[in-house]
Amino acid sequence: MPSVLITGATSGFGKAAARRFAKAGWSLILTGRREERLAELESELAPHVTVLTIPLDVRDSDAVSQALSQLPDTLLPLTCLINNAGLALAPEPAQKVALEDWHTMIDTNITGLVNVTHAAMPHLLATGKGASILNLGSVAGQWPYPGGHVYGASKAFIQQFSYNLRCDLQGTGVRVTDLAPGMAETEFTLVRTKGNQAASDALYKGTTPLQAEDIAEQLYYLATLPPHININRLEIMPVRQAWAPFAIDRDPA
Ligand SMILES: NC(=O)c1ccc[n+]([C@@H]2O[C@H](COP(=O)([O-])OP(=O)(O)OC[C@H]3O[C@@H](n4cnc5c(N)ncnc54)[C@H](OP(=O)(O)O)[C@@H]3O)[C@@H](O)[C@H]2O)c1
Repeated sequence: MPSVLITGATSGFGKAAARRFAKAGWSLILTGRREERLAELESELAPHVTVLTIPLDVRDSDAVSQALSQLPDTLLPLTCLINNAGLALAPEPAQKVALEDWHTMIDTNITGLVNVTHAAMPHLLATGKGASILNLGSVAGQWPYPGGHVYGASKAFIQQFSYNLRCDLQGTGVRVTDLAPGMAETEFTLVRTKGNQAASDALYKGTTPLQAEDIAEQLYYLATLPPHININRLEIMPVRQAWAPFAIDRDPA
């Protein structure tokens, strides 16, 4: 059976993807920082498919490279890497944000993603034809909005990194996609507001956001495309989300 490595499998898209790939019989390598959640997911899925859980902070490059250099043969070849771990913090304007929050987003969304990509690349190259790197970007990487500051910029990095990887992996058979969702209801806003459940509920109230399962379905679709197809970027929004007009600063009437 093919195997998939998913970062950030303890919640949201990553957890839904673990379930989606398990449904199709894939072997799973699941990572995240919250060990109890990894253990719960392992108990749910291990009766059906091979599961290896690795408690891991993607920001720790030594831990990442050590863990991924020791994958058991039963989980190789690695067919798909889903670089999903990530977060937004500080929805307030840039001028009001603590520098530490910017660093956390850069360290997780950029440094963490390159740490995992670098460590997983030898496995994906060994697999070659049909292997995929699926990077979770965001509409925020292309469309600016107030409070997007470093989060959107980190996702723009993911888009360009994905495209540049494609250039270097040309001829290896390994595919790369920037999957860029719009508004999706997960723990994302709870994390962004540092635990404000009411703010998270308010954001999703009265509309129809994407669900984690919608993104998991796209991830499975991308990973199982015929091996001669590479979708470079897949942007997906709820129907009830669209762009707004430019904001114009005007003199008082
Ligand atoms: N929801 C949206 O509207 C939306 C839209 C576009 C893109 N995205 C992107 O999609 C990805 C998944 O987000 P989600 O919506 O599923 O959010 P979520 O429910 O908050 O899940 C985020 C996952 O990332 C993991 N993570 C965060 N920091 C980590 C670290 N330092 N090391 C390892 N794992 C870490 C978390 O696990 P632990 O806390 O257990 O480590 C968790 O499993 C993110 O990259 C996000 O930027 C989300």
